[in-house]
Amino acid sequence: MKRLFAIGVIFFAGLAAFAQQRQELLLTDDWQFSRDKQQWQTVSVPHDWAISGPFDKKWDLQCVAITQNGETTPTEKSGRSGALPWIGKGHYRRTVTIPAGTPHAELLFDGAMAEPTVYLNGQKAGYWAYGYNTFRVDLTPFMHEGDNLLEVDLNNLEESSRWYPGAGIYRPVTLILTPKSRLDDWSLFVYTTDVDDKGVAHVTAQGRALETDPSMVAVMTLIDPSGKAIATSGDMAVNADGSFFTKFNVANPQLWSPETPYLYRVRTELFKTGPVGPDHHVLVDSKEFKTGLRTIRVSREHGFQLNGQTRKLKGVCLHHDLGPLGAAINKSALIRQIKTLKEMGCDAIRTSHNMPSQWQMELCDSLGMMVMAESFDMWVHPKCKNGYARFFNEWSERDITHLVLANRNHPAIVMWSIGNEIWEQWMGHGPMMAKRLQGLCHGLDPSRPVTQGMDQPDGALNSGFAQTMEVPGFNYRVYKYPENIQRLPQGFLLGSETASTVSSRGVYHFPVAPNDNSKNASWHKDYDPKAIQQRDGQCCSYDLEYCPWSNLPDDDWAQQDDLDYVIGEFVWTGYDYLGEPSPYDEYWPSRSSYFGIMDLAGLPKDRYYLYRSHWNKDQHTIHLLPHWSWGKQRKGQVTPVYCYTDYPTAELFLNGKSQGKITKNTKTRLDRYRLRWNEVKYEPGELRVVVYDANGQQAGEQTLKTAGKPARLQLDCWTQHSPFPPFHTINGAPLQATGDDLAFITVSLTDKDGTLIPDAADQLTFEVSGAGRFEAVCNGDATSLESFVKPTMRLFHGQLVVVVRGAKTPGTLTLTVADKQRRLKNKIEIPVIN
Ligand code: GAL
Repeated sequence: MKRLFAIGVIFFAGLAAFAQQRQELLLTDDWQFSRDKQQWQTVSVPHDWAISGPFDKKWDLQCVAITQNGETTPTEKSGRSGALPWIGKGHYRRTVTIPAGTPHAELLFDGAMAEPTVYLNGQKAGYWAYGYNTFRVDLTPFMHEGDNLLEVDLNNLEESSRWYPGAGIYRPVTLILTPKSRLDDWSLFVYTTDVDDKGVAHVTAQGRALETDPSMVAVMTLIDPSGKAIATSGDMAVNADGSFFTKFNVANPQLWSPETPYLYRVRTELFKTGPVGPDHHVLVDSKEFKTGLRTIRVSREHGFQLNGQTRKLKGVCLHHDLGPLGAAINKSALIRQIKTLKEMGCDAIRTSHNMPSQWQMELCDSLGMMVMAESFDMWVHPKCKNGYARFFNEWSERDITHLVLANRNHPAIVMWSIGNEIWEQWMGHGPMMAKRLQGLCHGLDPSRPVTQGMDQPDGALNSGFAQTMEVPGFNYRVYKYPENIQRLPQGFLLGSETASTVSSRGVYHFPVAPNDNSKNASWHKDYDPKAIQQRDGQCCSYDLEYCPWSNLPDDDWAQQDDLDYVIGEFVWTGYDYLGEPSPYDEYWPSRSSYFGIMDLAGLPKDRYYLYRSHWNKDQHTIHLLPHWSWGKQRKGQVTPVYCYTDYPTAELFLNGKSQGKITKNTKTRLDRYRLRWNEVKYEPGELRVVVYDANGQQAGEQTLKTAGKPARLQLDCWTQHSPFPPFHTINGAPLQATGDDLAFITVSLTDKDGTLIPDAADQLTFEVSGAGRFEAVCNGDATSLESFVKPTMRLFHGQLVVVVRGAKTPGTLTLTVADKQRRLKNKIEIPVIN
């Protein structure tokens, strides 16, 4: 077959010329940004205008009763949406250069907060209501050759969110230039229908071309993970509506899973045939994307199956913000999140409660992380005055359509979620609404099941809402699972949201006892808002604090392990996030969550090791808590010691004296998954745990020491090019000279032997020189009002994380950290390479 490829040929006409092939250009730099259209500053996109602060309780100060938390009386909720200046208008503008002869141009926005209106050369070219969704804007009718003025206006209303949404063009914008006859990007869809008994994968592929003529044909090619083209459709006639369709059979497929994230590439080409003869093809347009081959099934008999293997989802819910980086999406930060979670044994993320970013989905594909891709936190009945309920009737169909079309080639996504704790779950018309949205997902994607998270099991079962869902997801109330399952024809259920256990890294309150925080709820007889103000704004890290509506990890695991019909869980949450500071919704200053397994800086709380001990089946965990550097006042006081380990038995020694050898057991809810010595009396020195395996063989040990005098600032750097996941840092990993690669440096104040000074709160300063700049800093303290973007911050329980950004040109980035009070200084050099 002779093919004339016009790829790469550029016809010069005027100042710039359209290459006869599709071009996809990220619009990153040279944006102008303003809040008032008077003063402008140059920024790069992704951009979050609010993350630089300042923190102030006046931003979006909500005087409300959070009814879904059981509250009845409105009270002041100062940090509910992060106490950052995200409310109001924001404006962006930029020049977009359209080469001469460009037949078609469009913009792909991956999300802009909120209500983006897009103008080209002063004319309105597009609008999208929902700040979390991806949308396309056709520029063709408004553009001219050369420089065009692109403007984007945004508007964020007060009381439109239950958490920090971010503000600005916080996800990437791509300019897509194509010929007139072109492939419709979101029409391209490849999925595995099944893998047969002989191990052959049956793959369906489809697409659509726009503005074609009868001479055009499409060709789809499947390229395996080694780069070999293994199947082609040959010429496919393009139907009158532009559609085309084919099937591939792939013998010995390399199936995608979190453990084996193999990616195939799909190349789609559009050719014009003739006039020389039927074999004469001229390439008109082509597009390539990655996907994976794998199957998903849910059933009464086998629960959730990936590639025919039953497995329980070990998932976490994640908000979209990246802590001190705000909502501005960044690949290095996402990689850090995903790798940290994988190291914990986590295999799934729920993008609560909205559409994910494309970058996050690409990384979940390539690193191996399953995803529940969510959409809405409310339908028609509002959860906050100006939330998405304003748009639901008019926009929900379009929003679900965009979610599915833009994301359906990601093998990582294993289910769609049409909502979270939707009020309509117990209403008469709820099931019909659920059916409509679920049906919409199925129509656009027959390959994945649909779920949603319900928090009112009785109401949702009485109305028939829960029975409607392909995957019934229940938020909390795990003790109701056995009752719920009796009424579910599906025969299985998912813990769509679990735990909501709260803790602050490094904080231990005494005496140690489980606490459901119900006294913080306005319906409780002992509720006293003044008493809340007198607390310290922190939660205890013995992992025994939870919310009145929730429970402890141990309660979830008991159900997950004992009940075959439970297909997994999504813990609330993997990381702390900005806003929703329960149980301190009424405490100022408190502006970020306590739910995270990791804190806002991405540092592990003790809970990280609890999950790791249960979820990570490949590596052992031995983690002791609390720290063992208490002052004189704790001497002789009862200071319980916990060990989070996958081993069943351990013996604890304090200064060589045995505190007892214990084995996990089911006598109480807390002894099945943790080893606890509840009567240990503190004395400084050495705490040592020795663990034993199921055969009674000694298998390992861990020691905690009482810290000496503060002596060193320890710097541990992690970049995406580090050979290890975060927290196993070996300094020396480089940054790529791309301008958007970030390094995360954990700063710890230690004694001369490297033992952490656990209560240090020293003020540190940071200086960056050479090939990069200071980006942000965070210490994980939910009550800190220090700016994330100024190069100074206090340590929180001895630690914080500095984020630096590598330059676009190679060199060496040097970060110097100083503790002026103690006259300590340390620096780290990070190579920035091409
Ligand atoms: C759930 C809700 C989440 C978050 C969580 C806190 O009910 O779905 O968005 O608010 O509670 O425990």
